[in-house]
Amino acid sequence: MPSVSDRLPTFPWDRLEPYKTTAARHPDGIVDLSVGTPVDPVPPLIRQALTEAADTPGYPTVWGTRELRDALTGWCERRLGARGMTERNVLPVVGSKELVAWLPTQLGLGPGDRVAFPRLAYPTYEVGARLARAEYVAYDDPLELDPAGLKLLWLNSPSNPTGQVLPAEKLRAVVAWARERGVLVLSDECYLELGWEADPVSVLHPDVCGGSHEGIVAVHSLSKRSNLAGYRAAFIAGDAAVLGELLQIRKHGGMMTPAPVQAATVVALGDDTHVAAQRDRYRARRAALRGALEAAGFRIEHSEASLYLWATRDESCWKTVGGLADQGILVAPGDFYGPAGESHVRVALTATDERVNAAVSRLKG
Ligand SMILES: Cc1ncc(COP(=O)(O)O)c(C=O)c1O
Repeated sequence: MPSVSDRLPTFPWDRLEPYKTTAARHPDGIVDLSVGTPVDPVPPLIRQALTEAADTPGYPTVWGTRELRDALTGWCERRLGARGMTERNVLPVVGSKELVAWLPTQLGLGPGDRVAFPRLAYPTYEVGARLARAEYVAYDDPLELDPAGLKLLWLNSPSNPTGQVLPAEKLRAVVAWARERGVLVLSDECYLELGWEADPVSVLHPDVCGGSHEGIVAVHSLSKRSNLAGYRAAFIAGDAAVLGELLQIRKHGGMMTPAPVQAATVVALGDDTHVAAQRDRYRARRAALRGALEAAGFRIEHSEASLYLWATRDESCWKTVGGLADQGILVAPGDFYGPAGESHVRVALTATDERVNAAVSRLKG
């Protein structure tokens, strides 16, 4: 058997293990700010919807229930400002990481095709290209990409890891550029509801797409906005032709969102109260961590949105990781997201208030 895993990079988080061991030796315990995994409770109304749908012995469908499709189109119109959404413009998916990793393969991309993603990016965009044996290119500005062979262009605003937000004019220019060249735009918008000093805009907003969904697909996840990373609740929205093709492939391949998760998603997307409450928690943690990091000599760049602070002390990221681990604080080295991150670290806001307070006092101490 040829090894598929040989096509993939070393799993980056394994390299952080020794630092985790060091940080865990702190007498008051580790403060783990390395992974963006939610720690606050799943809102009770979502848990209730999940349990009320527990008695679902039959197979769910890939396209989801009528209620789910209505919830997806309704949310895109209400929250993203999208217009003219029909059920053909939405498709539930099992986790957006899984979607990102397998999309190039499901779209039939392979050798000779190219996938582009930001210079500093969530590593799974590259993984998806490698799994499909496609080529990949990291960009500083998508408008400067060579379009030859380019099939898929990933946008990620707000960005993981930098928290940078692309303004509507920039998104509009990229969508126009890609449409003229027949390049499909995939816009990963999983942090869209976590803007702090900027108001993130979706590619589905008419100011960006001109009211047409042609050539664009937005990727959304409930992991961060609703603390549902454990449910694997996500969906894509946009070009009906692309989504229709994916629906056919996924019908053959399985990939059905479990029925209780579908029911939970309907309720989660219909409620803004828990999103506002969660935002307030992150806003307070962000302010506390930002102040403490700056007081400890860090400069914070971008970070106007998302769940991360992109911080630097103008030294190697691994030196910073080591120094903070000695204080019992674990952060992610910037080079996990590309060589351009070699002098930054990514500090996640996803720790309890108690742990964030512990980090703040250690940084100030
Ligand atoms: C940019 C980006 N996209 C996608 C994901 C995956 O989210 P999920 O698989 O939980 O939907 C993450 C998770 O951290 C992310 O940062």
